[in-house]
Amino acid sequence: MKIVFATNNAHKLSEIKDILGADFEVVSLKEIGCNVDIPETADTLEGNATIKAQYIYDNYHLNCFADDTGLEVEALGGEPGVCSARYDDTTDHDSDANMRKLLAKLGDNSNRKAHFRTIVSLIIDGKEQQFEGRVEGHIALQRSGNGGFGYDPIFVPEGYDKSFAELGEGIKNQISHRARAVKKLADYLKTHVG
Ligand code: IMP
Repeated sequence: MKIVFATNNAHKLSEIKDILGADFEVVSLKEIGCNVDIPETADTLEGNATIKAQYIYDNYHLNCFADDTGLEVEALGGEPGVCSARYDDTTDHDSDANMRKLLAKLGDNSNRKAHFRTIVSLIIDGKEQQFEGRVEGHIALQRSGNGGFGYDPIFVPEGYDKSFAELGEGIKNQISHRARAVKKLADYLKTHVG
């Protein structure tokens, strides 16, 4: 079965292809000729995942899924959340600036609880379904590690004493928010659609 993943991120694409296996032909936005940067205008992760998947279904009439992720910090009322990519709004997708802002806002607050949350929105024959993956953890006092991307150097997952950036892809891909959401999606597709 052919299914569109509303992304052009090569890393996300290969991760999902690995999990779904050969029964599903996962294609990117580029592969269906979609070069639009679909505007993410909702104020929730759920809303943005829906917007992206619905855009593809409405314009291309293909079964598809889309994802949206945010880091939610308890002491900051869930910030940066849906604004994770551009938390520092004086820059564009600048992870250094985003982490600097987050660490400054959190200061020496002893409540450093946080989680990453991914929502995957799947549309099959016009019907939408969502899957959530999360990983609990805390925000470190300072950055550590060189791996990963985004907030990885300051996020320490529960059960570990190293940041995602130090733990490396092998461990991260087993326990991450995205991996968990994608596994739920894969289980659903394999049992209901494959
Ligand atoms: P997206 O929805 O996957 O594009 O994620 C939005 C933003 O959340 C990214 O630009 C990153 O700042 C952050 N983010 C998402 N996933 C991760 C992750 O696995 N590690 C660190 N930061 C992440």
